[in-house]
Amino acid sequence: MEELHDAILCYLPARAAGASPMNTRLPDESATRGVAVVTGASSGIGEATARVLAAAGFSVVAGARRKDRLDRLADEIGCLALALDVADHLSVESFCAEVPEVRVLVNNAGGAQGLDSVGDAADSDWMTMYESNVLGTVRMTRALLPKLEASGDGHIVIVTSIAGFEVYPGGGGYTAAKHAESAVARTLRMELLGMPIRVTDIAPGMVETEFSVVRFRGDAERARKVYEGMQPLEAADVADCVLWAITRPSHVNVDKIVVMPRQQAGARLVAAPHPRERQWGKAP
Ligand SMILES: NC(=O)c1ccc[n+]([C@@H]2O[C@H](COP(=O)([O-])OP(=O)(O)OC[C@H]3O[C@@H](n4cnc5c(N)ncnc54)[C@H](OP(=O)(O)O)[C@@H]3O)[C@@H](O)[C@H]2O)c1
Repeated sequence: MEELHDAILCYLPARAAGASPMNTRLPDESATRGVAVVTGASSGIGEATARVLAAAGFSVVAGARRKDRLDRLADEIGCLALALDVADHLSVESFCAEVPEVRVLVNNAGGAQGLDSVGDAADSDWMTMYESNVLGTVRMTRALLPKLEASGDGHIVIVTSIAGFEVYPGGGGYTAAKHAESAVARTLRMELLGMPIRVTDIAPGMVETEFSVVRFRGDAERARKVYEGMQPLEAADVADCVLWAITRPSHVNVDKIVVMPRQQAGARLVAAPHPRERQWGKAP
């Protein structure tokens, strides 16, 4: 184990230089807590999770398609940055081959494409959402399961969404994918019973990240309106949930965390003017 940490730590200039990532709430930051793989670490919740875990003493391996962003993150927090497209099984294989040991896998990569009704559904959007949210989680989990088991104290975190148990008009593709991802989390929990691997499903409500910009295909103004008049979660709020779940004693399995802004009580219930229009990204 120590050899692996040495191997990974040789990629960690910022840690050696005393980088101080944000928002950790653990008392003991110096302990080495094992290797944590975070997918979708180039922005939003994944990036925040990589920061919080690195600050808490994990040896973080960060994956995403935008390697330039990962490299900047690695310089800042000290992590191993590896290109990863969870929708491509060859990319998943080569990523996982670079990671000889893993104690924590955070399946975070994913997102939404568009707000089309089922009647107007574009196959390509649905395929993209299934590939990243569902199959990406399955591919990463399958590839790293033997290493998680070998760690003797493995933990799989899956960042789903309240869309994993709610639906809304225009959200068919995303909610179907997140329902499926939640089903994978619950299934894994049963299938891994008796093995030294915990499974945690983290289901956030509205978090202001690049999520809506991606959903609206780069329309930043439309994305901004989604959160207008209310205070959404920040990515770091969700990262805190990940950290809390994976730092409980190893006999404790946090099965599911549902976390929303105080001003949100459901996918369609937001305490702000014209919440429905906002949720669908239309001008208030
Ligand atoms: N923001 C919200 O309101 C919210 C609420 C509930 C759940 N979630 C979930 O939280 C997760 C993170 O989303 P976010 O809010 O942080 O959005 P974000 O800022 O857009 O981040 C999405 C991340 O996923 C990565 N990603 C997407 N497709 C990928 C692929 N095929 N292979 C590898 N990485 C991929 C992106 O990296 P690259 O583009 O560089 O590959 C990016 O790092 C998603 O699963 C999302 O569904 C978000």
